[in-house]
Amino acid sequence: MNNMARRDLRHIWHPYTQMEDCREFPPVFIERAKGLKLYDDKGNFYYDTISSWWCNVHGHNHPKIKRAIRKQLDSLEHVLFAGFTHRPAVLLAERITSVAPRNLGKVFFSDNGSTSVECALKMSFQYWRNTGRKDKKKFVALDRGYHGDTVGAMSVSGVSAFNAIFRDLMFRPFRAPAPYCYRCPAGKERGSCSLECINPLEAILRKNGSGIAALILEPLVMAAGGMIIYPKEYLVKAASLAKKYNVHLIVDEVATGFGRTGEMFACDYVNIEPDFMCLSKGITSGYLPLGLTLTSDAIYDAFRHASDRTRTFYHGHTYTANPVSCAAALAALDIFREEDTLGRVRDIMPIMRSGLEDFRDISIVGDVRHIGMIGALELVRDRGTKEEFPDGRKIGLEIYKAGLKRSLILRPLGNIIYFFPPLSVRKIELRYILETTRSLIMSASRHCKGRRPEAI
Ligand SMILES: Cc1ncc(COP(=O)(O)O)c(C=O)c1O
Repeated sequence: MNNMARRDLRHIWHPYTQMEDCREFPPVFIERAKGLKLYDDKGNFYYDTISSWWCNVHGHNHPKIKRAIRKQLDSLEHVLFAGFTHRPAVLLAERITSVAPRNLGKVFFSDNGSTSVECALKMSFQYWRNTGRKDKKKFVALDRGYHGDTVGAMSVSGVSAFNAIFRDLMFRPFRAPAPYCYRCPAGKERGSCSLECINPLEAILRKNGSGIAALILEPLVMAAGGMIIYPKEYLVKAASLAKKYNVHLIVDEVATGFGRTGEMFACDYVNIEPDFMCLSKGITSGYLPLGLTLTSDAIYDAFRHASDRTRTFYHGHTYTANPVSCAAALAALDIFREEDTLGRVRDIMPIMRSGLEDFRDISIVGDVRHIGMIGALELVRDRGTKEEFPDGRKIGLEIYKAGLKRSLILRPLGNIIYFFPPLSVRKIELRYILETTRSLIMSASRHCKGRRPEAI
């Protein structure tokens, strides 16, 4: 075990980690990074195929973002944001509202994805109070959604093994089934369905709309729920139902924002006007923490009043609009233009698509899904019945461990192996990642008892 990893275990408690497992599998010590590669102290490297938890956009160690951070540090590292402002925040608010859906003209800053969601939930809730609709206080969420780990964000996330223990702590939203085409909640097949999966959501809104503040969803990709990519028509219909029943629409683009799906925002694929948009992760290309909640002028106006202080949005975080984070975000946005990031993504998308399609002939690959620079493989015990692997056979974990030996970080979501590389990934790197993963999954399929080996 690396000396630093040993010292780490003396004091550090890692996220999402059973620390007892660390005795056998200590954390991998990373000393530096460049582009797609994370290096340990011996010069070994790992491909960061999941963008260090979905936030790295332009690659590690990008000179432009580093320069912007250093420059900002020379003038202002931080200042409180109530009663004060600064250039990077003003410029960033201008820039972000110029690329976001047109109706979103106001920006509230926070410092991570969960807080950007908390702000949207609280703003929606308070908006209805401020406008005399105290009865509108419930939320609707999709049952495999994920919006963060703080209590509010957790409450509107799907119930999972990770958050079930906190159930008594959470408020209860209405839950609609996720549009999970591979395991369709309505028992239909994509291609011949009429989007029956949205009917329960409509029923909830029809029956309870007058008591509902907002519908929250991740547009097009339910990321932590299993990289579930769903039809654009579902998003369009959900947005129109929200309008019809006078319920706010909160789109959580924390994972999908900043080019990930092939457009700047997943919402750009469709013509919708959300009431709130939550942003974080890729906004600084993953260099520094930052969260943004965008909303409309109409919602913002409901909080303004010359004498009624109860209308004020009394919410904030110490590092709200940290200038160095904002400077990193501005540099990251510049790079989109200077390096034609979206053009590059479109150029490389066919490699992602065809590389993933090649997995279909492996017997344990049940579903293959992709959009932009996201690809996912759902591994199953039986393709015919879609039977999952039993808990004892942690196939995702097996592949993760095997991947580390081949320089890949394939941190799975249960039995779902996915790819979420920085958008700066080079073609040759992407091919290596896909081909090596293919050989790892082929080899895992050979070891599946009772199954025919590999290709079928
Ligand atoms: C869609 C979505 N929303 C919110 C969050 C929470 O973000 P954070 O981990 O920065 O709190 C995540 C994190 O993965 C996410 O994927």
